[in-house]
Amino acid sequence: MTTHRIALIPGDGIGQEVLPAACAVLDAVGKRHAIRFDYDAFDWSCARYLSEGAMMPADGLDQVRGHDAILLGAVGAPGVPDHVSLWGLLIPFRRSFRQYVNLRPIRVFDGVESPVRRAVAGEVDLVVVRENVEGEYGEIGGRLNRGFPEETAIQESIFTRAGITRIADFAFALAARRNGRLTSATKSNGIIHTMPFWDEVVAERAALHPEVTWGSEHIDALCAKLVLDPARFDVIVGSNLFGDILSDLAAAIAGSIGIAPSANINPERDFPSMFEPVHGSAPDIAGKGVANPLGAIWTAALMLEHLGHADAAAGIETAMTAVLAKTPVRTPDLGGTATTTDFTGAVLEYLP
Ligand code: NAI
Ligand code: MG
Repeated sequence: MTTHRIALIPGDGIGQEVLPAACAVLDAVGKRHAIRFDYDAFDWSCARYLSEGAMMPADGLDQVRGHDAILLGAVGAPGVPDHVSLWGLLIPFRRSFRQYVNLRPIRVFDGVESPVRRAVAGEVDLVVVRENVEGEYGEIGGRLNRGFPEETAIQESIFTRAGITRIADFAFALAARRNGRLTSATKSNGIIHTMPFWDEVVAERAALHPEVTWGSEHIDALCAKLVLDPARFDVIVGSNLFGDILSDLAAAIAGSIGIAPSANINPERDFPSMFEPVHGSAPDIAGKGVANPLGAIWTAALMLEHLGHADAAAGIETAMTAVLAKTPVRTPDLGGTATTTDFTGAVLEYLP
């Protein structure tokens, strides 16, 4: 029996509804594979911010540093500015724990209709590899002359050789294990310093991975091509901002943002990695019990894979694929009437 200590941070809104679903599936799959999960739950959230003035305690990072992984629902609530929730909880984890890879796989599943007519099940299966600790999401900049007509905001983008190298290497290695195709998202025609630098370093790393066929696409054209011909893509590597946008676009092509998983990975394993569905707290449907738990359940599979349990992870993927292919059970975002609990129950039934 292997035991893993998991830090659970349900967060806000539907985060509170989809994490229990993920844990139910983890526990069931654990029983079949002799894995035990010890959960420590933390109430870090916008609710905590509103009552105590901070998303998490000052020593929050230290409280979870020793866990094997962090499983997070979502943060964000009306009444709390989104930059407060993001910078008060998510971004400190990603940066302090050197989770510089944000892995976002997506697939068009058999049984889910894509809004894109040409996106066919079995053909669209791609991974967005998003740089997760630098790029456009920087702390460097400021606001001045507040309230005057000349009010100014400056936001610096930070691209480092070390940062581009490690994300490119991760993406090329992943492409080599998959179909051997990689696309690098750029905008080196318009952004004249950072993006040509990104392109140069990616090309240098590409030379070390001759088994991977790769190319660069400008982000605007890439968005169009992703809609017109999503099956063409396998691994897409992008900066923090480009990867963020591309992964939501890819999730929409797959039918719903509610199904998209993500892993914030520290590949060196010096720190715990953090696993969270791509979606946010969805205040519009929170509390109704109808959130799609698939993104969180698939996220749990990514966590198992990272923890060294590829078979158990594959079991979850088999079950969720089967529910979509063989049953009509769907939450409202996928056109059905099932509740979060109904869908989770169906996944549990199909667990091998
Ligand atoms: P969102 O992802 O919460 O919701 C966008 C739309 O998708 C909504 O109509 C929602 O109902 C639907 N949706 C999302 N997840 C779903 C699911 N599992 N099942 C069914 N429908 C689902 O994004 P939005 O509305 O931009 O942001 C809401 C809050 O969440 C904001 O405070 C935002 O800052 C935060 N947020 C947090 C993230 C995180 O914790 N990683 C990521 C994105 C947003
Ligand atoms: Mg996003």
